[in-house]
Amino acid sequence: MNKEIKGYSKLSKQAKIEWLIGNYFEDPEKAFKQISSYWHNEAEIQKLHDEFIENTITNFYLPYGVAPNFRINNEMYCLPMAIEESSVVAAASKAANFWKDRGGFKTKIISTTKIGHVHFIWNGYPENSYEEFTEFFDSIKQELILRTQHLTKNMVKRGGGIVSIDLVNKTELEDGYFQIEARFETCDSMGANFINSILEEFAAVLKSEIVHSDLKDKDVQVVMCILSNYTPECLVRAEVQCSVEELNTDSSVSPDEFADKFLRAIRIAEIEPYRAVTHNKGVMNGIDALVIATGNDFRAVEACVHAYAGRNGKYKSLTHASVEDQIFKFWIEVPLSLGTVGGITSLHPMVKFSNELLGKPNAEKLMQIIAAAGLAQNFSAIRSLVTTGIQKGHMKMHLLNILNQLEATEEEKVKIIEYFKDKVPSYSNTVEIFCKMRGIAAPSPVKKKNS
Ligand code: MEV
Repeated sequence: MNKEIKGYSKLSKQAKIEWLIGNYFEDPEKAFKQISSYWHNEAEIQKLHDEFIENTITNFYLPYGVAPNFRINNEMYCLPMAIEESSVVAAASKAANFWKDRGGFKTKIISTTKIGHVHFIWNGYPENSYEEFTEFFDSIKQELILRTQHLTKNMVKRGGGIVSIDLVNKTELEDGYFQIEARFETCDSMGANFINSILEEFAAVLKSEIVHSDLKDKDVQVVMCILSNYTPECLVRAEVQCSVEELNTDSSVSPDEFADKFLRAIRIAEIEPYRAVTHNKGVMNGIDALVIATGNDFRAVEACVHAYAGRNGKYKSLTHASVEDQIFKFWIEVPLSLGTVGGITSLHPMVKFSNELLGKPNAEKLMQIIAAAGLAQNFSAIRSLVTTGIQKGHMKMHLLNILNQLEATEEEKVKIIEYFKDKVPSYSNTVEIFCKMRGIAAPSPVKKKNS
C-alpha cells in the first residue's frame, strides 16, 4: 500500500484510477466498476467533464428536477433544480401553484454592483498625512483607468466596467493597512476573473507610480488583490401578496390564524438566530438548487447570503412578512452575484439546457428568478411548519429513499406508499411494515457496546 504519491496530476486518467483503487479499496475491481458506471457514454462529453477540474476520475450525479408553474412578473417559468433533498422540488412546485393564482411573484433588481480590493500596507502614515496620501492616490486614478483599458474595453462596450475607485484607510484596524476599493458593473458575467485581473493591474500601477511620488515612504507591500464575494450592492427583491382571505391553505387552520402564525414564524426567525439559520437554510434549498442547475458558484452565493443575513451584527431571517389592511405580504431581499455568460455556462450541457428552459435569461433576470425560488421554498416550509408540521410532506417524499435502502420491490413500494397515504412515515414504522409484509422479523435495535 502506498497512500502517498508525487506528480499524481501528471498521470493519465487510467493510471490515476489504477493507483487510487489499488491503494484505497479492498476490492479494486468493484471500485473500478463503480467509477466507470458513472462515465458518460459519449466520450466527448466525458472529456468535457474531465477537463472541468483536475484529477477527474468520474462524475458525481445529483438529481435534476423541474418545478413548473412559477408565475414571475406575469411570465410562466418551469424552474430547473439540481438537489439531493427529497422534498425540495415538491415544496417549490407547491408554492408556485399556490401563488400563480394569486398574482404570482413580483421581482425587481435593486442594484448590480460588485466590489473588489487591493489590500496593501503603506507605512508612510502618519509621517505623510492621510490627505497627502489621498492626493497621491487621486493623481494616479486616471493612470489606473488607462492601464486597465485593455481589460475593460469589451465590458464597457457591453455597458459595464469600472464604476468607482477609492482609497480606504484601514489603519485603525491594522497598522499601515490601506485598500484600493473598486466597484464594478460586470453585466451578464459573474465577473470574478474580470475583477481580479483589473485589481492585479491596479496593484502594479500603485507600486510603479508611488516610486515617482513626493511621499517619503515610496514602498507599498501589496498583500493581495481579490474580489469580494460579499456583494450587498448586488441585490434583488422578490415579493408575493394577496388578501388574508385568499390564504386558504387547504388545512384546518383558518386564513386569519394562518397569517398570524406565519408572521410569528417570521418574527421568530428575525429575533432568534438558532431558528434564523434553519429558516435561511430552507430559503437556500431553493436558491442553491437553481444556482447549481445554472452552473453558478454556489459557494460564493452561500458565503454572501449568510454574511448579508448577519450584516447588522445579528444573524436574521432573509425573508419578511406583514399584514396591513388585510393584505398579506411576503418578501425577500437577497444579494445574488450570478452569471449567464462565462464560467461553465457555455460548456456544461445541462447548464445550457437549464438556460434554454428559462428562456435564456440575462444575469438580472436570473437573479429575479432565483430570488423567487428562494421565497417560494421558504413559503412552503413555513406553511407546513405552522400547519401540518414538516414531517408529513418531508417523510412522504423521503419514503422512497427508505424503501430503496430496504431494497423493496416495485410492488412492495406501491403497497407501502398506499399504506402511508394517510399516515406520517418514519424510518422505524416503514421498516416495521416492510418486514411484516415480507413475513420476516423486524431487526432489533442495535445495542451499543458496553451498554
Ligand atoms: C429542510 O431542508 C428545510 C427546513 O428545515 C426549513 C425551515 O425549517 O424553514 C424545512
